[in-house]
Amino acid sequence: MEFKKNLLFIGAGYVGGPSAAMMAYKCPQYRVVVVDINQERIAQWNSDKLPIYEPGLYEIVKETRGRNLFFSKDIEDNIRCAEIIFVGVNTPTKTFGEGAGMAADLQYWEKTARHIRQYAQSDKIVVEKCTLPVKTALAMEEIFNSSNGDIRFDVLSNPEFLAEGTAIKDLENPDRVLIGSRQTASGLRAREVLVEIYENWVPRERIITSDIWSSELSKLVANAFLAQRVSSINSISAFCEAAGADVSEVARAVGLDSRIGNKFLNAGVGFGGSCFQKDILNLVYLCRCYGLYEVADYWEGVVKINEYQKERFVLNMLRTMFNTLVGKKICMMGFAFKANTSDTRESPAIYVAKRLLEEMAELIITDPEALRSAEADMKEIGGNIRFVDDPYEAVQGCHAVCVMTEWELYSLLDYERIYKSMDKPAMIYDGRNILDHQKLFDIGFNVFPIGKPALRRER
Ligand code: NAD
Ligand code: UGA
Repeated sequence: MEFKKNLLFIGAGYVGGPSAAMMAYKCPQYRVVVVDINQERIAQWNSDKLPIYEPGLYEIVKETRGRNLFFSKDIEDNIRCAEIIFVGVNTPTKTFGEGAGMAADLQYWEKTARHIRQYAQSDKIVVEKCTLPVKTALAMEEIFNSSNGDIRFDVLSNPEFLAEGTAIKDLENPDRVLIGSRQTASGLRAREVLVEIYENWVPRERIITSDIWSSELSKLVANAFLAQRVSSINSISAFCEAAGADVSEVARAVGLDSRIGNKFLNAGVGFGGSCFQKDILNLVYLCRCYGLYEVADYWEGVVKINEYQKERFVLNMLRTMFNTLVGKKICMMGFAFKANTSDTRESPAIYVAKRLLEEMAELIITDPEALRSAEADMKEIGGNIRFVDDPYEAVQGCHAVCVMTEWELYSLLDYERIYKSMDKPAMIYDGRNILDHQKLFDIGFNVFPIGKPALRRER
């Protein structure tokens, strides 16, 4: 079959895989190829067990794979064939040298840019899908234009706003698609090519355009604002615990103000995921580079509150379990950074697990999708840890349960049965406020929610 366009996604991760699959699904007239330097990942995308868990993803991949969606190990040839290249490689926080722990590590992105330059034999539109420091597109252009050929490269910024666990829904029905371009004739032409692709399923009024730098910055700022809301409500959860108020009631009352809105106001054990912290730290780093120290400090506060919230959770466990966790069995319900994903990157569960092990507790970790990732995360750390699939088996003989991920499954468990199988006094720390606290208390548990008075038997 003759395809209308050849699209290539470089980077077969949480962004590249689902975005490519959605594009192939919505646009059968285009050939969409996904490549990655990680050959094992490509093999997994070609198998029945996809490398990531995302509701609805498998169905879309099954329908499109081999029709107009292809996962390939051949980077070189596919760069040659593609007219439009989406770059979705990882941009983690730098762990070495200047900016370590703050700046974005751009080595994967730059390698990709050099590959594109090396193998391209015809004009390309290159689309930044990954989250990058402001003005990265400039650097990309410089790399492309450093070879003498007469190939034309147009760089666009098209940041991805999907959230894990709802990626398919977000991709299918995005609040907005943002496309940043150079305001030159060629930049605007390239922008229209991308607009046309999205128009296959996104209403035109939701496809917004801007200059490149504003687009790059908007992505960092969107994540910073979202994380800021979580840290804001988490800071108030500490206040509520101290003052005997209920953070859910406060969030409800505040969120009903239409200027504030009710989303992202769930207090919890702290935000995780591969992006919030990395993107805010990157923003903080960039602010300091521009000499904007007060602005940097302001945003750094969001990360600091997040650290505080995780540590507060651990200290609360320690204090309420009679100031010693030595030899105590603690079941961690959930390890993914949020529900409906197998991703554990920067999960608050990792921090909490490390700290509980430092206190010499014994951990039993359970999660419906992220248990293998949890094992990998905890491998280096060691300590007394078991990984158990069945939550009922996991809680057996435990002194405490802590809910780390808001999987619906955990709110539906038989807590009478769980109570009976635990050591007494049985404690529950609901790090996501998803359980029926009064019911648990009536069963016999001592219950410690986030931002609400604890339900504890008289001592
Ligand atoms: P990921 O680690 O899941 O995937 C990145 C992939 O790129 C990996 O499979 C890696 O092997 C591959 N890669 C690295 N260098 C390569 C190269 N030179 N050639 C080919 N492949 C290469 O990362 P992710 O979560 O998909 O995130 C990718 C980018 O998208 C990041 O900048 C992130 O900030 C941004 N983002 C992520 C999300 C999310 O929900 N995870 C959402 C929006 C934006
Ligand atoms: C986030 C953004 O929501 C996406 O728009 C963005 O594209 C993505 O980052 C990215 O750039 O990677 P994601 O991290 O997948 O998506 O998930 P979120 O739903 O934003 O949750 C992030 C963390 O905040 C989770 O740990 C979640 O449990 C926590 N959270 C979220 C709360 O504690 N309370 C809330 O009310 C909302």
